[in-house]
Amino acid sequence: MTTPPPGRRPLLDPDRPGRPQPVPEPLLTTLADGRRIVVRQAGTGVPVVLLHGFPLDHTMWDGQWELVAAGGALDGSARLIAPDLAGFGGSDGPTSSSIAGMADEVVAILDALGCHEPVVACGLSMGGYVVQHLAARHPDRLRGIVLVDTKLEADTPAARAGRVDLSERVGRWGARIAAEALAPRLLAPRLLVFGSGRSALETRLRETIQQTAVATIRTALAALGDRPDMTAAATGFVLPTLLVVGAEDGITPPECLERAAAVIRHAELEIVAGCGHMTPMEDPPAFNARLASFLRERVVTAPPTRPRGAP
Ligand code: MLT
Repeated sequence: MTTPPPGRRPLLDPDRPGRPQPVPEPLLTTLADGRRIVVRQAGTGVPVVLLHGFPLDHTMWDGQWELVAAGGALDGSARLIAPDLAGFGGSDGPTSSSIAGMADEVVAILDALGCHEPVVACGLSMGGYVVQHLAARHPDRLRGIVLVDTKLEADTPAARAGRVDLSERVGRWGARIAAEALAPRLLAPRLLVFGSGRSALETRLRETIQQTAVATIRTALAALGDRPDMTAAATGFVLPTLLVVGAEDGITPPECLERAAAVIRHAELEIVAGCGHMTPMEDPPAFNARLASFLRERVVTAPPTRPRGAP
């Protein structure tokens, strides 16, 4: 069952006051275990579930709704579904304690929404790890995968130690510490980004991280540090696959996705110039165009159900 949750975030574009973005209203859906999950969805056609990175929420996909708005590139051919994973954004915790558990949670969210047909799973970074586990654990629920600014490999010992250290500091001083440590690293370096867009994006990311519960950050850091190497599993993926990475991504650099492209059959790779770790937010037109062409050419076979731009 879905109901509107208490509002948390204005739906107006702060850079264009008074001009509403085509962002749908959020809904609450309840999982079989009682956790209430915030989800936005819009459009009709092939379901595409959008999974956010760490420690963010579904609003990182605000630039993708125009794809399914009237006249958009996927108008009438895709239904976008963007949840907040448990404990993140406005969703109830507890946060799943492993990436595999998060993948099972996504299936539970789709079930709660009554979406039983195979979906395209698209995830950024942590969301991309979840997509890999979906492909390994629930291939029957998928018809395509999109891995964005992510990687197949497990953490190095140094990266794992860094997560333990960050978790301890967040436990002592709060989510602010995670915002300070992570927000500046998520975007392409300042020198590459012109105008005020970068600082507005960084502020937005910082606010989202600061609003995340300490327990969620700490549980997710442990899950991220414990995640297995998925390289061997990925050699068995047979779904249409799109890999996207920002050319300036300093967290999961293009080499990570180049290695993934070498092992995943049917994978195509797009390196987006000028973007860091948050490609869908940093350059929505470039990301959207690539996602739309992948879906149209390799996933969507049925023609649009209504003419472009029709009400
Ligand atoms: C993310 O953006 O989800 C994180 O960078 C993932 C990670 O820390 O491995």
